[in-house]
Amino acid sequence: MFNLKDEILILCALSLEAEPIIDALSLGPEDSLLPDCFSTRAFVRPEIGIRLVTLGHCDVNNVERIGGLSAALVSWEALRIYRPKLLINAGTAGGFEYKGAHIGEVFLSKGHIYYHGRHLGAAHYNNYAVGKFPCLNLQAFADLAGARLGIVSSSDSVLASPEDLRKMKNLETDAKDMEAAAIAEVCCFKEVPFVAVKAITDFVDSPLSTIEQFRKNYRLATENLAKVTVDLISILRGSVTNMDIKL
Ligand code: ADE
Repeated sequence: MFNLKDEILILCALSLEAEPIIDALSLGPEDSLLPDCFSTRAFVRPEIGIRLVTLGHCDVNNVERIGGLSAALVSWEALRIYRPKLLINAGTAGGFEYKGAHIGEVFLSKGHIYYHGRHLGAAHYNNYAVGKFPCLNLQAFADLAGARLGIVSSSDSVLASPEDLRKMKNLETDAKDMEAAAIAEVCCFKEVPFVAVKAITDFVDSPLSTIEQFRKNYRLATENLAKVTVDLISILRGSVTNMDIKL
C-alpha cells in the first residue's frame, strides 16, 4: 500500500483541529510554499513523510478560513506543490443522534463524499448538485483505528436548512462538515487518493445551539481526531512504522 517514504498530506481547516495532530505526530513548523495570500500554516516531519497544512487566515475578516472555496484552493495548490500520495482531511463535524452517534466519536469516510447544501432546482443538475466524489475504501481499517465508517457530506454552512436536512437524510449522512466534498472533488481531478476523518462535536438534530455544543465538546473531539488520524496512518503504513510515528 503506502511506503514509509510516501508523502501524506493532512489538511485541517482550523488550528484547533490541527494542533492535537501536530503534537501527536511531533510535526515541526516550516514555511508554507503555498501563495502568501492564503496565509496557510505548514508543519512537517520529513523523516516520516507527513506534512500538515491548514486552510489559513482571512486577513479581511481576521478569522481562520473554513468552507469549500478555501478548501478547494488550498488543496489544489497543496497537491500541485507537495505532490502527496494520499490526502487526509481531518476535522470536526456535526453528527446525528437519530443514527446513534456519540459526541467525540470519529468517522472515517465511506464510499463517496457529497454536497448536501446545493439546491439547484433543475432536474438535470440533481446529480451535479450532490457531487459524489470517491474516497479510499477503509473498511478493513476502521475497527483497528478505533473509528466507524460513515457517510460524510459538506456545505458552506454550520447551520442546516430544511432542504439540507432532507438531503442529508436521503444521503444517510453521518458527518456533516464544511470542506470534505470540495477537497474530495479536487483529489478526484488530480487522481490522488482521499480520506476524510471527522470527529463529532455536536448533534445536527438537537435543539441545543450548535456553537455551544461545539465549544463544550471540541477538546474531546479533536483529541480523538488526533488519535484516530495517527492510528490510521500507522495502519496504512504497516505496524513497523507505528512506533516511528508515535515516538
Ligand atoms: N464542524 C463541527 N460541527 C459542524 C456542523 N454542525 N456543521 C458543519 N461543520 C461542523
